[in-house]
Amino acid sequence: MDRRKFLKKGVATVIGVSATGFAGLSSAARADLKDELGDTVTSYSAITSYNNFYEFSTNKTEVKELSADFKTYPWSIKVDGLVKNPGIFDLDDIRRGFDKVERVYRMRCVEAWSMVIPWEGIALSELLKKVEPTSDARYVRFVSLYDKNRMPGQKSGSFPWPYVEGLTMDEARHPLTLLATGIDGKPLKPQNGAPVRLVVPWKYGFKSIKSIVKIELVKEKPQSLWMQSGPSEYGFYANVNPNVSHPRWSQASERRIGDFLRRKTLMFNGYGKQVSSLYKGLDLKRNF
Ligand code: MTE
Repeated sequence: MDRRKFLKKGVATVIGVSATGFAGLSSAARADLKDELGDTVTSYSAITSYNNFYEFSTNKTEVKELSADFKTYPWSIKVDGLVKNPGIFDLDDIRRGFDKVERVYRMRCVEAWSMVIPWEGIALSELLKKVEPTSDARYVRFVSLYDKNRMPGQKSGSFPWPYVEGLTMDEARHPLTLLATGIDGKPLKPQNGAPVRLVVPWKYGFKSIKSIVKIELVKEKPQSLWMQSGPSEYGFYANVNPNVSHPRWSQASERRIGDFLRRKTLMFNGYGKQVSSLYKGLDLKRNF
């Protein structure tokens, strides 16, 4: 990774990846793959077996098995609201209709664990360009599938389903923000949010909503599932911030899955150079 280039352009570029991308990497080359801070990539088995996906289970190690038969084809995403060209995009439209991007990003969960993941997908900004948001559009609202028969965790009634998340227009258009369709050059597994999920690496992992069926451009700030179910603990911005504790635990450090020792958590998860300008004038102590 050319760190200067990364910082200057404000986008992640990965060097050393073969022409076939992450899919073409040998296991030795994968083990050498690093993000722009030099952090090594988390093992594929950990990425795909330690998951938060409450629609299946609140137990991270159960999600893989419970989601194994989740059918993600056919699938379509409705993009509408305050746009000039609303549309319905299926998985092939997303994979073939836009430039493919591959990025190695750190993911920091609000529960204070983290991973480094080689994502494949498209820039959300490209999809937004296609639907042409109107000047009234101020936020993007994302909705996950709601189907109790296919997602057993939704039968519990402990959460206000469906899972909903939101971004400001600037956050959604930021070059770091992805709609991911794969990990390690392989299609996303159900447990990771197949077939399409959001990835916003400077925010706590819960913003990266899985198995998206709807993207709506709206005027008002969206109410996420977490804002509704835990308003004193989870806010709209949810930028990674080591200086603001969760009401029940510190956010100053994190456990990188696969590491023995904890490490310090970085402001904006280490992406401050690229994103801090989005938050000028915002009280970061309050923007949890
Ligand atoms: N999206 C949906 N629809 N449902 C969820 O329960 N969990 C979130 C996020 N996206 C979640 C979701 C949380 S808390 C985290 S940390 C990440 O997904 C975990 O992603 P991973 O399991 O692929 O590591």
